Amino acid sequence: MKRSIVNEILAESDAFIRSHGLVLPPFAYWTPAEMQARTATGSAMIRDHMLGWDITDYGQGDFENLGLFLFTVRNGSAANVAQGMGMLYAEKLLISDVDQISPMHHHNAKTEDIINRGGGRLVLELFKRAADGSCDPEAEVRVRCDGSWRSLPAGGLLTLDPGESVTLEPDIWHAFWGEGAKVLIGEVSNVNDDRTDNVFREPIGRFSDIEEDAAPAHLLVSDYDAWLGEGAAA
Ligand SMILES: [Fe+2]
Repeated sequence: MKRSIVNEILAESDAFIRSHGLVLPPFAYWTPAEMQARTATGSAMIRDHMLGWDITDYGQGDFENLGLFLFTVRNGSAANVAQGMGMLYAEKLLISDVDQISPMHHHNAKTEDIINRGGGRLVLELFKRAADGSCDPEAEVRVRCDGSWRSLPAGGLLTLDPGESVTLEPDIWHAFWGEGAKVLIGEVSNVNDDRTDNVFREPIGRFSDIEEDAAPAHLLVSDYDAWLGEGAAA
């Protein structure tokens, strides 16, 4: 997708988040030059833990229909996981527009709570993961919603109104989209590595291919390797 479009999505999404009474952390607003200077000094965690803006069309060039806005607010590291202590958690904000699909996927390590923070309804299509890893076309799906079990048929649609959430364990395949109006989504999970822990049903990528038709207003997490150099072992 074009960088100029990414810049527009950043600005629109920031306004949408603020309209719900939330404000992103200060590093969201650093210019690329500030990000380079600060991650080279005391703020390497932002680069090494992939905190920040993440706008993806899954490499398919059709963001309005197949895409997701994400901002990683906080995230621990593999070192934390190995030690079993420290920052063992992650938090993201996501935005799904009406019928804008986040495609069917599961995670190998991440358990995530997906929370409707406000706006429209959030619809999730769910499958149980079969023994061979695929979407089980028949098995009942059981998930907890705000602490209470819900059961759906294979491929059933779970609708979350504002305030509601679902806990998605690694054995649950999921796709989701907004219904009625754009949705502000919270994600609370264990440590997250988007480079390795997304398994998609279709052969698609996790990040966007960017066409540089304008200067970036802010860097995306997928820009960090090119702009900020190799991260230290986190
Ligand atoms: Fe997910």
